Amino acid sequence: MTSPVVRRVHAVDEAMIGALADVLKDCVDGGASGSFMHPLTRERATAFWRKVADGVAAGQRALIVAEDDHGVCGTVQLIFDLPENQPHRADLAKMLVHRRVRRQGLGAMLLRAAEATARECGKTLLVLDAVTDGDAARLYARLGWVRVGDIPNYALFPQGGYCSTTVFYRDLAD
Ligand SMILES: CC(C)(COP(=O)(O)OP(=O)(O)OC[C@H]1O[C@@H](n2cnc3c(N)ncnc32)[C@H](O)[C@@H]1OP(=O)(O)O)[C@@H](O)C(=O)NCCC(=O)NCCS
Repeated sequence: MTSPVVRRVHAVDEAMIGALADVLKDCVDGGASGSFMHPLTRERATAFWRKVADGVAAGQRALIVAEDDHGVCGTVQLIFDLPENQPHRADLAKMLVHRRVRRQGLGAMLLRAAEATARECGKTLLVLDAVTDGDAARLYARLGWVRVGDIPNYALFPQGGYCSTTVFYRDLAD
């Protein structure tokens, strides 16, 4: 098996939408808190990625995907569609790695690729939130993101029950 290739996608076709929907569904099925409740139908997952595809086409988002021999296995986004007084920053969102390839360094590769893309786009500051003390929060802290603080009862886990979120930022000038 070859290691995943990570690249920025500028045009998202139907095949890519379907593959990204599979990754999102796998993450929600696995209990990841990423805006959706369980069970996530294929229709809702596909509708989400169609909107993302529109945002990519409009230049409001950058989409990064990872692919291996079995297809799309990970993704992350940068959101540029922010108020006009924040042209220097982006939100990092929807960092998703399929369970079949976790704990092999792909999350770190995607994060570094997103940071590089943000720099190429002239951004100097990134912000995100992640489930407090979860797998993703550990990843961000390990790769140099600064923990701002926690917001209790911010969202629900897919199966129900409140989860706390932690806000992080990354100064790309560092
Ligand atoms: C969070 C997430 C993206 C991490 O993806 P990942 O590809 O597993 O990330 P990495 O492999 O870079 O790091 C994960 C762990 O594997 C370890 N690891 C990395 N490469 C390794 C290797 N070759 N051998 C053994 N362990 C390894 C890392 O040290 C890290 O350890 P830790 O959990 O103890 O801190 C993934 O778990 C995921 O998609 N979760 C569900 C969705 C989600 O919550 N997204 C975040 C929204 S904010």
